Amino acid sequence: MKRGKSATGTAQTASEQLAIDGGTPVRTEPLPLEFPGVHYLGEEETEAALRVLSRRSLFRYYGIDLGREVESLESEFAQFVGVARAVAVTSGTGALVTALSALGVGPGQEVIIPAYLWVSVAAAVVNQGAIPVLADIDETFCLDPAEIAKRITSKTAGIIVVHMSGAPADIKPIQKIARERGVFLLEDCAQCNGGSVDGQKVGAFGDMATFSFQMNKNMTCGEGGCVVTNDPRLEQRASACHDVGYARDESGRMIFDRPDLRLWGKGYRMDELRASIARVQLRKLPATIEHMRRSKYRIRKALEGFPQVKLRKIIDPKGDTGCFLITTYADAPTAERINRALRAEGIVTSPQGVSDIVMTDWGLHIYYNNLSLVNKTSVDSRGFPWNLAENADLKRDYSKGACPLADSLFERSILLAIPSCLTTEDEDDIIRAFEKVLRALL
Ligand SMILES: Cc1ncc(COP(=O)(O)O)c(C=O)c1O
Repeated sequence: MKRGKSATGTAQTASEQLAIDGGTPVRTEPLPLEFPGVHYLGEEETEAALRVLSRRSLFRYYGIDLGREVESLESEFAQFVGVARAVAVTSGTGALVTALSALGVGPGQEVIIPAYLWVSVAAAVVNQGAIPVLADIDETFCLDPAEIAKRITSKTAGIIVVHMSGAPADIKPIQKIARERGVFLLEDCAQCNGGSVDGQKVGAFGDMATFSFQMNKNMTCGEGGCVVTNDPRLEQRASACHDVGYARDESGRMIFDRPDLRLWGKGYRMDELRASIARVQLRKLPATIEHMRRSKYRIRKALEGFPQVKLRKIIDPKGDTGCFLITTYADAPTAERINRALRAEGIVTSPQGVSDIVMTDWGLHIYYNNLSLVNKTSVDSRGFPWNLAENADLKRDYSKGACPLADSLFERSILLAIPSCLTTEDEDDIIRAFEKVLRALL
């Protein structure tokens, strides 16, 4: 058999020779695309959508033969999360803006956000006229409670904790800090729908929480989202803000005699068609998550044999939704070499190919890749919100270096998406590729 030399100088058989060095790849067929809910779309969603169309009532508040799909989604989703109330909206971004509006966030206030996030989190704060304050993450890849405590000032209105890449943040100490310091806690659960800590679902820890049902998420209706809370006042404010600015009564008519609920609307109402699909996806969500978690923990177990590979700290493995695996290496060149080698072994999706990357390439999830934030971009010519008098002393530096642990983790870590439809053979290939590459390169 043909023999080659590994980077560490050990003789190898042809099948062990890394694909990146001309060996045979572990697999040639791309891995399935990573959209969790999409792999579970079926007849049930089609039937639900047809049911709405046959009623010819697509608007949530009234119609020819209203099916009340959005209303049902709201009560089913609130029950699923374990909270009292939910307001369905058209996106996760809309959910964040709606929640911040309900919480009364505006100029002169600071909102703490994590270094690892999605651009919408910073955008929602800036669009309210407030100032985002970055706080570093820890090995959970979510906000570090100690870093939050350091960032709280007399101007801090609240904290947006983002449960990133499928697994919950260290939410209990964060909840404690928010309570003790008298600031709001908003949980962004867009990437962790169905996740939990000690049996309590993410979204049930904060004053409010937001979700996304966009196509990349654990359940999907293409575009969509939800705001949840236990506080009836916040729910009423969210309901008014997501709509035209006024609360509505049972029959969908606007209420004008509640001065406290005469607000300004953002226009994020969900429609009946998408709600009907989201309701079916919600019923399938536990099975979707279970599949991803099973695959992920099988792969993680195999990686435990390589002590040089650090696995992401998971606060509660039972509450991990499983959609991403993060591995961390000693330094950036090692992470890059291993990632290139894994991709050459066929551990990649097609055509997007973003399922297996070094995290610095993870676009607008990385604070310093967001040039609007780094450059403090404004949408108007007067520099809103950065140049508002109320914000004059609150601006921060958002360029690389602002969050040193995040910077180090991003360049040393590889993010691998775990699709919700991996077969045992797919998992075997991922494990074999990791073992082959790690044995050769570590
Ligand atoms: C953490 C996080 N927050 C918010 C959003 C925004 O959701 P949407 O795309 O539905 O607006 C996303 C979407 O990727 C996200 O990942």
